[in-house]
Amino acid sequence: MMGALGMQGRAESAEAMTRLGCAAAGDVTAGAVIALVGGLGAGKTHWTKGLVAALACSLDVTSPTFSLVHEYRGGRLSVFHFDFYRLESAAEVLALGWDEYLDAGGLLVVEWADKFPELLPPEAIWLRFVVEPDTARTVERIG
Ligand SMILES: Nc1ncnc2c1ncn2[C@@H]1O[C@H](COP(=O)(O)OP(=O)(O)OP(=O)(O)O)[C@@H](O)[C@H]1O
Ligand SMILES: [Mg+2]
Repeated sequence: MMGALGMQGRAESAEAMTRLGCAAAGDVTAGAVIALVGGLGAGKTHWTKGLVAALACSLDVTSPTFSLVHEYRGGRLSVFHFDFYRLESAAEVLALGWDEYLDAGGLLVVEWADKFPELLPPEAIWLRFVVEPDTARTVERIG
């Protein structure tokens, strides 16, 4: 479905992390689900910001932690950005309309996806974000 090489890499700054997400845009197709895992502050939201800027013609991607799901429509692909961090149960995610988002033909990006891995479809692309000792971040595909 997609070559994940462009999604991976090393970023020395927040801006570089945004560029890495931007570079991933060429690799994604309609209906793809991208599951992001990694510790607090590992760069997941910055990566997503770059991806959305490239795909959905929107520059304003803030953390969805406060609104639970952000929708970016009108670009080459619609992007639906979830963050499971503050959600308590898989049932809560389902109540947000999870199944409809999966069927919407856009792109789903999910921060803290490993909190409810059972919700992610088998074809999901899993990316792990790691904070390196020198404070740079790396992104690698793990599934
Ligand atoms: N590659 C990087 N190098 C250095 N700092 C970075 C890098 N990427 C992001 N940051 C910084 O790390 C902080 C957290 O970034 P971001 O919000 O993208 O992380 P996150 O993984 O989404 O965190 P959370 O788990 O809280 O959602 C920000 O202050 C950002 O500037
Ligand atoms: Mg985040």
